[in-house]
Amino acid sequence: MNRIQTPYSIEDEDELDRSLRPRRLEDFIGQHALREQLAVAIEAAAARGDALDHLLLAGPPGLGKTSLAQIVASELDVPFVQTAGPALERKGDIAAFLTALEPRSVFFVDEIHRLPRTLEETFYPAMEDHRLPITVGQGAGARVVTLDLPAFTLIGATTRSGLLSTPLRDRFGIQARLETYSETDLAAIVARSAGILEIPLEPGGAAAIATRSRGTPRVANRLLKRVRDYAEVRGDGVLSADSACAALDLLEVDDRGLDRLDREILRAVCVKFSGGPVGLSTLAVVVGEEQDTIEDVYEPHLLREGLLKRTPRGRIATPAAFAHLHLPPPQASVPAEGGADPVLF
Ligand SMILES: Nc1ncnc2c1ncn2[C@@H]1O[C@H](COP(=O)(O)OP(=O)(O)O)[C@@H](O)[C@H]1O
Ligand SMILES: [Mg+2]
Repeated sequence: MNRIQTPYSIEDEDELDRSLRPRRLEDFIGQHALREQLAVAIEAAAARGDALDHLLLAGPPGLGKTSLAQIVASELDVPFVQTAGPALERKGDIAAFLTALEPRSVFFVDEIHRLPRTLEETFYPAMEDHRLPITVGQGAGARVVTLDLPAFTLIGATTRSGLLSTPLRDRFGIQARLETYSETDLAAIVARSAGILEIPLEPGGAAAIATRSRGTPRVANRLLKRVRDYAEVRGDGVLSADSACAALDLLEVDDRGLDRLDREILRAVCVKFSGGPVGLSTLAVVVGEEQDTIEDVYEPHLLREGLLKRTPRGRIATPAAFAHLHLPPPQASVPAEGGADPVLF
């Protein structure tokens, strides 16, 4: 193939990501309660020779939803078939997938909240009793034919479980929410990845990356790769606390794990909107980023760090945000005209 080789092309990143993906439940670090719950369910289903119950995995991007779905298939030793909500446009798309499944397969639908509403109900009989009624023909000659499906496990992944309709959500026998990871778990993930990539890593280096990874394994792995570049080019290749911190400073990832766009969002709220409140759509326009990306990727970390608050009137920057950006604290709030704030005399 004649593709131009850049040092870190997207393809290379993908390949690395694949190599770092945990393959078995025992390689999946953290999320202990969920892991145990799945281990029991998998063992029970395997012993009975049944398909595993349908499983819904909810949580922010990069926490291991796709990895877990693949792990479930390998632990059950069944085929893994993957698609995504937006790729399913017509009932026929779903039928094509479902009718081709081997018994007990895992059918993984990523971003299941983006499945068109009208298609959600196609899944109901399929999930409940492995039936798929389809309409054949048109007009007066149209009739409904019910196809029998093999028993299968639907695994849905979503960053927004709130957007799923209740009837669909209720049909998942196991519903799990992935939580952000502790620094200890993240340091263990970094150590595991460094082992796979054969990077010499000191515990201090792992800890430095872990504290700036915003609770997210994908971010931890990404930072690890960038820090490795730095250690190889500017240092002796060993990933120590010092080289990690120097590299992360260069990447403009600060000591609370905020990157440039996080700070831009905060700065916009603090400076342009005097601390807020400001609506999400306005904020998205000002920083030039998709509303969904701000809500799914950036905001959760800023909320967790206590830098931003969500209120019914919009996003508000906390005093900690002003301090973090080295900005003078906001003026004592002047109630907006017609606002609901009480006027103090
Ligand atoms: N619990 C975990 N243990 C080890 N690595 C993990 C874990 N969760 C996620 N990862 C790493 O993070 C990357 C992103 O995970 P992924 O499953 O794609 O997340 P999601 O589907 O939730 O966005 C994976 O490639 C894997 O290397
Ligand atoms: Mg995924």
